[in-house]
Amino acid sequence: MVPRLLALASFFSASLALRNGLALTPPMGWNSWNYFSCGVNEDIVLRAAKSMISYNLTRLGYEYVLVDDCWQADTRDPKTGAPVEDKGRFPNGMKDLVDKVHAMGLKFGIYSSAGTYTCAGRFGSLGYEEIDAKTYAGWGVDYLKYDNCYNEGRAGTPMISYERYNNMSMALNATGRPMVYSMCNWGEDGPWNFAIEIANSYRISGDIYPNYNDFDIRCPCTDVLDCKLAGFHCSVMRILDFSAPIGQKSGSGHWNDLDMLEIGNDDMTLYEQLTHFSMWALVKSPLILGNDVTSMTPQTLTIITNDALIAINQDGNGPITRRWKKPVKDGEIQLWSGGTANNSIIFTVLNTSPTTQTVYLDFADVFYDQGRYYARQNFKLFDLWMKDETDNWGAPAGQAQFNLTLEVATHSIRVFRATPAPLESAGSAKRESEKHL
Ligand code: GAL
Repeated sequence: MVPRLLALASFFSASLALRNGLALTPPMGWNSWNYFSCGVNEDIVLRAAKSMISYNLTRLGYEYVLVDDCWQADTRDPKTGAPVEDKGRFPNGMKDLVDKVHAMGLKFGIYSSAGTYTCAGRFGSLGYEEIDAKTYAGWGVDYLKYDNCYNEGRAGTPMISYERYNNMSMALNATGRPMVYSMCNWGEDGPWNFAIEIANSYRISGDIYPNYNDFDIRCPCTDVLDCKLAGFHCSVMRILDFSAPIGQKSGSGHWNDLDMLEIGNDDMTLYEQLTHFSMWALVKSPLILGNDVTSMTPQTLTIITNDALIAINQDGNGPITRRWKKPVKDGEIQLWSGGTANNSIIFTVLNTSPTTQTVYLDFADVFYDQGRYYARQNFKLFDLWMKDETDNWGAPAGQAQFNLTLEVATHSIRVFRATPAPLESAGSAKRESEKHL
């Protein structure tokens, strides 16, 4: 009986990976909105695509070039109702741009809204799902970001939102062209519950801005599970907080989307940006760059090309999850952990307070979700930012396990990969990690 149940379980989880079979790992790419806002045009998009190649970002997996809001003309085609691009911004037409992006070996994405208008007031796709999906397919589009503005009140229960977003999901699938379907309804009605079978990713909150942890009332929710008004000016740590309870709902083919990255967009310190990139990678958010990729500092480039973190983001496993959050003076420390596809354990400690914190980690805390098997094991620790082996941690049979002591700088993060190591070496384990950010 048990094997049969297991077989059924794997059948259901395989079929959950959406009908289009895409985004089996979180999508990676670049989107025009965070940096260029409504100023997007053909030249900007082509220059971004070229830079993604010349900076070798494509080799790391950044493959989608995404045009956000404001690509549309004032009106649809009056005869056919088909969507039309703004010829002032895209003088050669969208099809030509898509062809050029494809010729560079990249994929192309576009934006619309499940409403009468987009958030910037261009025409939306509500009621035009079929003709829009067909037009996008005809242009060769590979990805649709689908927003939530002007939705005519067709939200408020999961079923109402499901129906509105499923209309586009079905229209995309009916074209026969594989297109990643990226829902952007800001977490309204809990898409992590109702959209697993219809979308490849779903935004979980209001819009991000390049800020570490300010509380701006225009991002009004205190808890993602009880959020009626998503808003904008959501800081990195607030969005991370929102994601904490719903990591369990994210997985292959259907990812929680914590919004596009703000690395390289000023206003955050190096450590704050390391935290932002690390956590987006580890909770398996799509990694969509939101900066000007034609002009990047060495620092920005170093952060967005951390291959060890990208490898974990892309390993097909679900997110790492939060084990605890503890208050300290004017902030908190947090422990997150989870497993990689090749049986390593990832754990990370964050410090949101204005002072360096000394953090004592309990072995059982970090390895709790991995079960008793790990209780008698020794691990080698690899620091994913320092890129070196810093410590061993464990306990040979019969010896007591010890705490790991870490220094975590203000607004910073330590990220470790723990790999099972022979028990003999545990005796020489250092008790304190010497290197820190
Ligand atoms: C928002 C969305 C942003 C951006 C913007 C465009 O609703 O969350 O990511 O797409 O609309 O107007």
